[in-house]
Amino acid sequence: MSFMEPFRIKMVEPLTSLTMEERIKILEHSGWNPFQVEGRHVTFDLATDSGTGALSQDQWAAMMQADEGYFYSRSFKKLEKCVKSLTGFQFMLPAHQGRAVEHLLFPILSKPGMTVFSNYLFPTTRGIADLVGLHAVDVPCQGSPDNSFNGNIDCERLKVELEKVGPEGAMVVLAVASTTPTGQPVSMANIQDLSKICSKFDVPLIMDGCRYAENAYFIKTRDKEYKNMTCKHIALKMFSYFDHVYVSAKKDGVYNTGGFLATNSEDVYNKVSGRMFYTEGFQTYGGLTGRDMEAMTIGLLEGIDDKFLQYRVESTRMFGDILKEAGVHVIDPIGCGIYLNGAKCLPHIPTCEYPAFALHCALYVSGGIRCAQLGDILKLDESNERENPKSQHILRIQIPRRVYTLSHMLHMRDIFKGIIEKRETISGMRVVDFTSSDYSAVLEPLNGKLFDE
Ligand code: F0G
Repeated sequence: MSFMEPFRIKMVEPLTSLTMEERIKILEHSGWNPFQVEGRHVTFDLATDSGTGALSQDQWAAMMQADEGYFYSRSFKKLEKCVKSLTGFQFMLPAHQGRAVEHLLFPILSKPGMTVFSNYLFPTTRGIADLVGLHAVDVPCQGSPDNSFNGNIDCERLKVELEKVGPEGAMVVLAVASTTPTGQPVSMANIQDLSKICSKFDVPLIMDGCRYAENAYFIKTRDKEYKNMTCKHIALKMFSYFDHVYVSAKKDGVYNTGGFLATNSEDVYNKVSGRMFYTEGFQTYGGLTGRDMEAMTIGLLEGIDDKFLQYRVESTRMFGDILKEAGVHVIDPIGCGIYLNGAKCLPHIPTCEYPAFALHCALYVSGGIRCAQLGDILKLDESNERENPKSQHILRIQIPRRVYTLSHMLHMRDIFKGIIEKRETISGMRVVDFTSSDYSAVLEPLNGKLFDE
């Protein structure tokens, strides 16, 4: 499908340019962990698309006209009107980001000991479920017909699980589209089936709508029933099947911060606004400034535009396709973001020597590229079974919105190609210090040098 960037560039930021030798020194000082490298030393930051997009002229202009009043400001009223019309819900509350809503909402909808079922809970959502004392159980489908909607939840298995716990014991969160494990969308049919099941069992159904707009685009382009509908209308239909929806505006809201809860339950609205007064702020700003709410309102509208979504999704797919042509092992199908199988990209490195980390370091050294490896260290797998999804050692590429151009992608493709061509020279890694997560781990190349040339 042909597409182009639906904008021209008005403000530019120079790209960092360092030599390979300089980057090796920086990486050494950062414990051979690209997450620890300072932003000023990164040329292409593909670690996340969360809050990292470029703003439009309309967003900047609206920020100048913001109303910074505490109670029912003009900026809040604009955001409220926008969210209500986008989602079709009667009540909305702003929040500083997605997880703030989860933190407020989950204790209101649940009691400790209950189970939260999901297609895939995002790690922070899982963490909040833990904090609140919920059991988190993922019931993902095992692929879908023609792999179009691999983010679907397994409705049959969910029914069995719900029979076991009963209506008092559960709630369901559907991540639409799911970020983990590989950014796959959810079909409208799956949402409809799930909604029927949740009504039958009388359990609340919540949408984690961080990537709701991209999901709507996948429905439009992969389900012929929806091909003539706008993404906005598809999204409205998606929302109509849920009891409550929360969205992180840092992704499909195309803003640097923010989020919201939307619901038709006055009771939930009252309880969440009561709690948020103590933790986030009054219900008419929820931790955001007036200018945040102005820019978020416009970002939400820009982010659901069909032309924008075509650029967003198709440019991601195109980048994935050219990486595949360059010999990179990209996990198919490409959904929201590009996920690489690090173990297959560097097959000479056993999985117990962290191939995704090694690939990540090689990308940083060769081209200043930062991605995100997801739980590589925790997946230490002595068996070295590369087909086993548990030992895929995934490296995630998320493309910030409206930031990098096609020629940047071609340039990055060349960096990847160079690495694949000399992959045999890349060393495995050893963990020197691992306290809590991949983000803070300290590693080193096994024989002291990343490239053995
Ligand atoms: N749910 C999903 C599916 C997410 O992808 C994220 C964040 C959240 C909830 C939390 O939202 O960051 O606004 O608090 N994902 C980011 C990422 C961090 O890099 O994919 P938040």
